[in-house]
Amino acid sequence: MRGVILAGGTGSRLHPLTRITNKHLLPIYDRPMISYAIEALVGSGVGEIMLVTGGTHAGEFLRLLGNGNEFGIDRLFYAYQEKAGGIAEALGLAEKFVAGDRCVVMLADNLFERSIRPCVEAFEKQERGARVVLSKESEPEHLRHLGVAQFDGNRKIERIIEKPAIPPSDYAVTGVYFYDHTVWKVLPELQPSGRGELEITDVNNWYLEHGLMEYDVLDGYWGDAGESIQAYYAVHDFVRAHGANRNV
Ligand code: G1P
Repeated sequence: MRGVILAGGTGSRLHPLTRITNKHLLPIYDRPMISYAIEALVGSGVGEIMLVTGGTHAGEFLRLLGNGNEFGIDRLFYAYQEKAGGIAEALGLAEKFVAGDRCVVMLADNLFERSIRPCVEAFEKQERGARVVLSKESEPEHLRHLGVAQFDGNRKIERIIEKPAIPPSDYAVTGVYFYDHTVWKVLPELQPSGRGELEITDVNNWYLEHGLMEYDVLDGYWGDAGESIQAYYAVHDFVRAHGANRNV
């Protein structure tokens, strides 16, 4: 399985900090944010990784990561996103890198208390389709800034609602996604959303409509450090106190 780390975007929710750097280079405790996403994938046995980024600070990633070996990456590839066109648009840049393989896609502002290895292993056993990772969130205010799962009576996900005014459940969709090769056919069919971006939620809803989506529910803390400055500090404080990507 190949890993794709998405580290682009304008980071406008963290302005003015992100006027002078890329959001994913901001510190979380003692390391740049991006290093936790790398650790999550490498610690799950994913050694071939493409980093997709953009903007005026893209060169700093090369300075930080080099060929990736110091971070445990076997082979590190880079792609440059010319404009901030959304998560799904960024993923499209990794098509040739993933080629005939499957992929795990990770948003580099997502931090996990525990290792995502069980999810990677579950997708390895899954015959086809896609897989998302959910996290139970108790604050409706928080859910309104995320993708939220809507379930049917059998606890199957019916649909994912992006930034819902009224959250349909307490389960947020985290920024770890697993896809088979079908994803490359879905991406060109997407239409830009209200915020002018190609949404990863539309990709996931395509798989849901075709009955090809499975999910895991996380144990432990999950945070999206790019959601707001409050979320950034909440993630930072959690990681400082408890660490991240732990195996137990
Ligand atoms: C994105 C996804 C959203 C998901 C979130 C997780 O939101 O669109 O479904 O819940 O990442 O971090 P964004 O950060 O682009 O607003």
